[in-house]
Amino acid sequence: MKRIIIDTDPGIDDAAALTIALNNQELKVEMLTTVAGNVNLDYTTENAKKILDFFDKATPLARGNALPLLQEYEDASQFHGETGMNGYDFPESSRQLLPEHAVVEMKNKILAAEEKITLVTIGPLTNAALLLTMYPKVKEKIEEIVIMGGSTVAGNTNSSAEFNIKVDPHAAQMVINSGLPITIFGLRVTSKAVLHKKDIESIKNLGRTGEMLHSLFTHYRGGDLETVGLMMHDICTICYLLESDIFKFQECFLEVAVEGPAAGTTVADLAGRYTEAKNVKLAVDIDQKRFRDWVLKEIAKLK
Ligand code: BDR
Ligand code: CA
Repeated sequence: MKRIIIDTDPGIDDAAALTIALNNQELKVEMLTTVAGNVNLDYTTENAKKILDFFDKATPLARGNALPLLQEYEDASQFHGETGMNGYDFPESSRQLLPEHAVVEMKNKILAAEEKITLVTIGPLTNAALLLTMYPKVKEKIEEIVIMGGSTVAGNTNSSAEFNIKVDPHAAQMVINSGLPITIFGLRVTSKAVLHKKDIESIKNLGRTGEMLHSLFTHYRGGDLETVGLMMHDICTICYLLESDIFKFQECFLEVAVEGPAAGTTVADLAGRYTEAKNVKLAVDIDQKRFRDWVLKEIAKLK
């Protein structure tokens, strides 16, 4: 069983990724931590509570950073709705949060764990950067950091930058250059990780979980239901932990631009022309059919 902490900003594709991760028997989600991203931290934290309540999970939840390290915060509510999970009527949650800041709670969990833990980040990297900087000892106990972020094709915020990296490029740069094993899923692959209209329609009949996800997906603007399909960016990280051969990877050097109009852009030195050093394992391709079948199978299991 793989032990993971998920740092998240739910977010509709986050909610779908959490749905699969929390219910898969081969994963042990040790903790969820929230960060400002798709919507502000109050909303992302409430949304994480609602997902945990929906599945009646006792997974500890900690609230993280409300703002990026250095730059001003901009949300993505145009894709995920004002609250970040518009579309389904979740009951209000009375769930208690862990008492400390997410960065402290992550540090405590990681240092106390007997086995190494994998950190999965599906929002901006603010919490992860603070964790590695404030408590560098945790590096000895982290197996790998699996990131949804970046793009080595076109961006989804401007011509080149992907949202999670654009929100906090300084944090992303710190994590990517941390020296830890980093596996990163950018838009090159995640924009091909799509569900089409007929897939979304089939989900509707898959019990209460299917109904919940169907309601969220029909309010999600990450892609287009009629044409390219809906992009399940964040699910790629969870799929990788369970079925890694659905993806192809290339080890390379990846740099994050932190200033000027290019801030938030990720550049991959795929041909090794700049340096022979390699700091990431970059996802470069996806078997789209296998991915789609796997997602639908995971959701069907929860019927
Ligand atoms: C990423 O940004 C968010 O809108 C999604 O949840 C995903 O993590 C895609 O760029
Ligand atoms: Ca996300």
